[in-house]
Amino acid sequence: MKRVETECTLTVNGVDHAVSGLHPGESLLDTLRERCGLRGSKGACEEGECGSCTVLVDGEAVCSCLTMAAAVSGRSIVTVEGIGEAGAADLQDAFLRAGAVQCGFCTPGLIVAADALLTRNSSPSVDEVREGLAGNLCRCTGYGRIVEAVLDTASQRREQP
Ligand code: FES
Ligand code: FES
Repeated sequence: MKRVETECTLTVNGVDHAVSGLHPGESLLDTLRERCGLRGSKGACEEGECGSCTVLVDGEAVCSCLTMAAAVSGRSIVTVEGIGEAGAADLQDAFLRAGAVQCGFCTPGLIVAADALLTRNSSPSVDEVREGLAGNLCRCTGYGRIVEAVLDTASQRREQP
C-alpha cells in the first residue's frame, strides 16, 4: 500500500515551511491558507474550474485546489503574495490603474496567471491574453479591463532597458 505523506516542506515565495499532520490528499490551497498563513490564493469552485487558486509551481501556473501539497514538496511555489517580490508589482499596479479589480475575488489568480503568461510570451496579442487567462473566471469585469492591464504591463516591460 502506498505510504501517505503526513509531513513535508513547502518552499513558498523563497521561504521553507515545514508542514506536519497533513490530511491524506490535502490540497496545496488548503495548506497554503490554513497552515502557511498565506490567504491570498482564493478557493471558489475547488474543482479546477475558476482559477482563483492559481499559484506557480516551478514557474508553471497550476490550480492549487487540485494539487496535493505533499506532491510539490521541495519545488518552488510562488503565490500572489510573492509575485510582487518576484518583480511583478507592475502587473498589480496595472490592474489597479485599468480598473480591472471589482470584488477582487478572482484577482490573485489572474495576477499569477498573467505573470506566467508574460514570462512565456512578452508580447502577447489580445487573443493570446484571452487564451492565456481562459482558465481564470471573473464574474464582475467583463475581462476587457483585465486584458488591457496585461497588455499595458507587457508594453511597459518591453520598454524597460
Ligand atoms: S478554486 Fe481552484 S480552480 Fe476554482
Ligand atoms: S472582480 Fe469580481 S470576480 Fe473578478
